Amino acid sequence: MKTFKKGKLRVWYDEALLSVSPEQCFDVGFWQQQERIVGQASGRGTTWFIQLDNVQGALRHYRRGGLFGKLVRDHYLFCQWDKTRSYQEFQILNHLRNAGVNVPRPIAARAVKKNVCYQADLITEKIPNARDLVTILQENALRDEIYVKIGQEIRKMNDAQVNHTDLNIHNILVDDQEQVWIIDFDKCGIKSGKDWQFSNIQRLSRSFKKEQLRHNIFFSDHAWRILMSGYLQ
Ligand SMILES: Nc1ncnc2c1ncn2[C@@H]1O[C@H](COP(=O)(O)OP(=O)(O)O)[C@@H](O)[C@H]1O
Ligand SMILES: [Mg+2]
Repeated sequence: MKTFKKGKLRVWYDEALLSVSPEQCFDVGFWQQQERIVGQASGRGTTWFIQLDNVQGALRHYRRGGLFGKLVRDHYLFCQWDKTRSYQEFQILNHLRNAGVNVPRPIAARAVKKNVCYQADLITEKIPNARDLVTILQENALRDEIYVKIGQEIRKMNDAQVNHTDLNIHNILVDDQEQVWIIDFDKCGIKSGKDWQFSNIQRLSRSFKKEQLRHNIFFSDHAWRILMSGYLQ
């Protein structure tokens, strides 16, 4: 990982993957001008898919959710560069990849200081040909094997001591090779012990139930049992 420093700006990046300057790469206007925006997705804000030289990236700006988010939107209290959300997510992604968990490769993270606050952005490698579980389950049921893989991937993440504080079915992707990917590690941390681990799984269970009511997704108690069998293997 390289670091670019200029005044109130820091960018941490992988120079093998980032084919443009670290100063330019977070500017959506730049990618638009170059006609290198290849798609978008929405979560809290917009995730822009961009065409780098060798890979595609997913660029997102950190935003707050909830009521508090309406007031301060995208500003976070600054304390140290290595405590910024973007730097932390970059590190967690590297940690998980080293542990063999299917998560996107981090490409670049930025933090920009504004008085006592900062704003942040992240570019990860786009998982090719993947869709999130909500989208998939609105169309079809998933085979048991995939539920086993989902459970196993979450278990690998927990065994690597990562606490995913927002493990919901928007943050789990399945690609066309039927590989399962976990994304969105904002505010997540590396944590010792095990007592917190089950709360990740419980949160996921609530998410399946919520989307079943909201979007009538294909999901059943049987599917959950299979997922748990993968987690507990
Ligand atoms: N690396 C990636 N590859 C493919 N799609 C991604 C990737 N990162 C994000 N996305 C898409 O963008 C959406 C929002 O990104 P996410 O990281 O979950 O941020 P948030 O939920 O905070 O907006 C995801 O639900 C997913 O559809
Ligand atoms: Mg998300």
